[in-house]
Amino acid sequence: MERDIIIAPSVLSADFSDIRGALAEIEASGTGWVHLDVMDGNFVPVITFGSKFISDIRPLSGLFFDTHLMVNEPSRYIDMFADAGSDSITVHVEACRDVKATLELIKARHVDCGITLRPATPVSAIEPYLDMVDLVLVMSVEPGFGGQGLIPETLDKVRRLVELRGSREYRISIDGGVNRKTIRDVFESGVDIAVTGSAFFNDSDKRGFVHSMSKGLGA
Ligand code: DX5
Ligand code: ZN
Repeated sequence: MERDIIIAPSVLSADFSDIRGALAEIEASGTGWVHLDVMDGNFVPVITFGSKFISDIRPLSGLFFDTHLMVNEPSRYIDMFADAGSDSITVHVEACRDVKATLELIKARHVDCGITLRPATPVSAIEPYLDMVDLVLVMSVEPGFGGQGLIPETLDKVRRLVELRGSREYRISIDGGVNRKTIRDVFESGVDIAVTGSAFFNDSDKRGFVHSMSKGLGA
């Protein structure tokens, strides 16, 4: 059966001094999504940007804003990132004191509610929340940096989440090391969405990249 997955370019690999240009490139590539990596320098070693950046770029683009919070105790910031114009907000299970309460804060804002886990965290850690979420993001690299290699074992988590889904409607996304070489295995694992940072921004044919990657083809 023919299926297309969503390709979500991450601005982490863009030149922040030309964010307008980066958003225009993403839109022109034919995808409808952009992935926004928020890092706090605490849950992960690096600091990227906060909600002001997102609200500033919101008027520039009609793309679906897929916000990935790599932030400790994200419950403090859900309203800020919803107000900024996020269409989905994804939090790390490892970062929340009260996971259920945090997901409820997201749901109360009527944006898509996502949960994610580090490569070393088992799927069992998020299983209790699968009834609540619209999106499960499988980290296929250690969060914090673009340009790392995909950890192949993380695809087993995608397969497990496909099995567990049953009649639930969550979408499965994967983040880290997705490129023309890894896309076939990623696609075959059963994901609905693939985040891609460095591979997208390093590719000279962005339209061709999104077109083939969405069909699980490297070239
Ligand atoms: C890593 C981020 C990713 C990153 C992916 O912590 O969550 O979204 O941008 O970058 P690539 O595609 O270069 O691995
Ligand atoms: Zn991400």
